[in-house]
Amino acid sequence: MNVILAESAGFCFGVERAVNTVREQILLQQSKAEGERLPIYTYGSIIHNKQVVSDFENQGVLVIDSLEKLEQLKKGVVIIRSHGVAKNVYDIMEKNGVTCVDATCPFVKRIHKIVHTESEKGVSIIIVGNDGHPEVEGIKGWAVNRPVVIGSTEEALEFEGDKSKEYCIVSQTTFQNDKFQDIVDIFCKKDYNVNVVNTICNATHERQEEACKISENADIMIVIGDPQSSNSRKLFEICRKGCERTYFIQTLDDLHLEIPDSAKTVGITAGASTPNNIIEEVQSYVRRNF
Ligand code: F3S
Repeated sequence: MNVILAESAGFCFGVERAVNTVREQILLQQSKAEGERLPIYTYGSIIHNKQVVSDFENQGVLVIDSLEKLEQLKKGVVIIRSHGVAKNVYDIMEKNGVTCVDATCPFVKRIHKIVHTESEKGVSIIIVGNDGHPEVEGIKGWAVNRPVVIGSTEEALEFEGDKSKEYCIVSQTTFQNDKFQDIVDIFCKKDYNVNVVNTICNATHERQEEACKISENADIMIVIGDPQSSNSRKLFEICRKGCERTYFIQTLDDLHLEIPDSAKTVGITAGASTPNNIIEEVQSYVRRNF
């Protein structure tokens, strides 16, 4: 059996940076005298991976899962994950005297800056992305006016705005490139005055392209990722188009492979929040057993 592992599988730069930030904080607090140590929190799970999160929990890192709980916090270190957060989250931490360690991915930070600057100038913001996704919620919270979130071509077609206004279109970093282009085309065709900033992250784009190519040549495709991770789900969607027999698994335990005799090639890829050890486990299992 020919096994192809995507080179881009696994942690992206931003996720790796966020996970390392937590590790550094654990070491930093442990190096302090007992009475001086601060409790460590992450605002939301640091990544969409249960194993990594529970490993950190065992080392005393707690997850704050709501703004209300953050508001009650008066002491400690709060780590912001790579998805980033709305401006009011920083304001609350500052008001409460809580130490903020910002692990927002610099590519997401760039979107916050664009949205903040443009909206301050009076430009209306359109975010192409999945409404409710934490990254999108964070981006929304940097606009001084009310931004619009468009998640599909249907929503773009339904959109009725003010054509005398200026619009700035940005994208969730993990959005699919071709879908983004289709949405932008609709706004242009409808004659809206738009300034388009494609803020899709290259890491996502490269991962998707590579997954697409591998899946087209694979008889079986395995996508490793958390079902809650939007970039993993998108990888699965893409791979399923290229290869009918695509499996979406979280860990090796979920893998119940049925390989037909005619199958010659198994492709493997993984979302941005999948740790290397899980990818390695799956890869060596497939190599050993098929
Ligand atoms: Fe950052 Fe791109 Fe990852 S935006 S968090 S490097 S997918």
